[in-house]
Amino acid sequence: MAQEKSFFSVQDIHAYYGESYIVQGVSFDVEEGEIVALLGRYGAGKTSTLRALARMDDPKLSQGEIYLDGLALHPLKSFQAAQAGVQLVPEDRRIIGGLTVEENLILAQVAEPKGWELERIYDHFPRLGERRNQDAITMSGGEQQMLAVARALARDIKILLLDEPYEGLAPVIVKEIESILMEVRSLGITTIIVEQNAVAALQLADKALILDMGEIVFRGSAKEVLEDKELRHEYLAI
Ligand SMILES: Nc1ncnc2c1ncn2[C@@H]1O[C@H](COP(=O)(O)OP(=O)(O)O)[C@@H](O)[C@H]1O
Ligand SMILES: [Mg+2]
Repeated sequence: MAQEKSFFSVQDIHAYYGESYIVQGVSFDVEEGEIVALLGRYGAGKTSTLRALARMDDPKLSQGEIYLDGLALHPLKSFQAAQAGVQLVPEDRRIIGGLTVEENLILAQVAEPKGWELERIYDHFPRLGERRNQDAITMSGGEQQMLAVARALARDIKILLLDEPYEGLAPVIVKEIESILMEVRSLGITTIIVEQNAVAALQLADKALILDMGEIVFRGSAKEVLEDKELRHEYLAI
């Protein structure tokens, strides 16, 4: 019997860095258009999980299945997962210095299939339009984060994986990135957000997952986490 799968379905994935067993049987589902906050303490395995989902070489997936819109991602390499619409915005943002904002965006569009056209990106991110001819690396941290998100949209996107988008940004800049992510949400782009600033992530998210020592210890609504003081205290230190 054919089984109905969720839009994004992660089934019992396990992953290793060499001998180090880090992702220890993670399963969850995300429906199309949903935003899921993946939370947990430092070292819980959040980045490792995102990297495994994006099919990076490290950590190495040893077991488990991942499906995006019916397509099996677990047999794929990272470039193939990106072509299939998995766009990871890593913590360090990977902005290319020596290239302008526009060149960074054009480079993202080189790979087929393409995502948003430049005009659409500048419509949604006017700041990037103003700075299109500036060396991208000379922009502020917040602007670089905007560019990193815009670059993900310039590729064909089915799911956005954000690793600590607010990290290192001043509160006023966090607000700006938040409003951009609100806009991304209103466009119905399915998103998984990892964030140390759990409250900010939960305000954006529909659902929440809490990871601890490579395992999921809680899954529920974002509201439940915001209202559960003990849970927040135990796993999020907030
Ligand atoms: N490249 C690596 N090689 C070996 N161990 C790693 C590597 N990256 C992370 N780890 C370990 O994996 C665990 C989970 O790390 P990580 O996924 O970065 O956690 P989080 O993003 O939740 O802070 C930690 O114990 C960390 O030390
Ligand atoms: Mg991390």
